Amino acid sequence: MAALPERGEVATYIPPLAAIDPRHFGLCIVTADGTVHMAGDALEPFSIQSISKVFALTQALGKVGEALWNRIGREPSGTAFNSIVQLEREQGIPRNPFINAGALVVADVNLGGHEPRVAIGELLRFVRYLADDDTIAIDEAVARAEQATGFRNIALANYMKAFGNIRHAPELTLGVYFHQCAIAMNCRQLAMAGRFLMHGGRHGRAGARVVSALRARRINALMLTCGHYDASGDFAFRVGLPGKSGVGGGILAIAPGRASIAVWSPGLNTSGNSKIGTLALERVAEATGWSVF
Ligand code: DON
Repeated sequence: MAALPERGEVATYIPPLAAIDPRHFGLCIVTADGTVHMAGDALEPFSIQSISKVFALTQALGKVGEALWNRIGREPSGTAFNSIVQLEREQGIPRNPFINAGALVVADVNLGGHEPRVAIGELLRFVRYLADDDTIAIDEAVARAEQATGFRNIALANYMKAFGNIRHAPELTLGVYFHQCAIAMNCRQLAMAGRFLMHGGRHGRAGARVVSALRARRINALMLTCGHYDASGDFAFRVGLPGKSGVGGGILAIAPGRASIAVWSPGLNTSGNSKIGTLALERVAEATGWSVF
């Protein structure tokens, strides 16, 4: 590692993330036959942040199906994850479910008229089921810090409310979103939770169906085109796999039919994606030939 260029900057917008040691590195690869390969800090929990948007999207599609696309687009935004700039021109319809605006609409769908704790409990149970691990939990200190500093998200939710694209009280929708960002997982749990996207929608190779094969393919397509925000093109160019990043430094990448991969290194590049994590995935893809291209 000493020969690598510097590791990027850890997220500093909330104290619990600013305090993370940038020297952490963890990797877990679950292959199609169920073999689990781990390296480094693969069992150390971290804040999954925006990676939660993959699981929340799957939950929302389960609730409202394709009608979700009346409220959210499916195009890369070409803007930062927390950008507001397109919403005025595009009548409060976010470009895709992985930018914050889109994830807030997804959270609004998942809220479905219940208390935020019901929706978040449901998401947590879903992620635990996917990962086969009941110990996955929310880091309450992170959730509180998200709430206390999330002025851009508060603005996004209120702005979309003005267009009628947030149906609940914005503070309730935001409560769901802030808590989903605060889910803590380690690389092993995350790679296990991603298996359904490797297995064409099944829990394991011959397991129960979580989503249809078509839906799994479409979620992977969105991860490939939008999972790294305005750096999605660069990630596709370098790694060539559907991937979703979070500002906690985690990335979930899927090699369809071959592997579910989770990597964690807290230092971020200028687009807010894990710098060493991306490099590690680039090397994994090179070594294995798993690029989808
Ligand atoms: O809502 C936010 O801005 C953060 N809690 C999460 C953003 C995030 O992880 C973006 N991904 N790179």
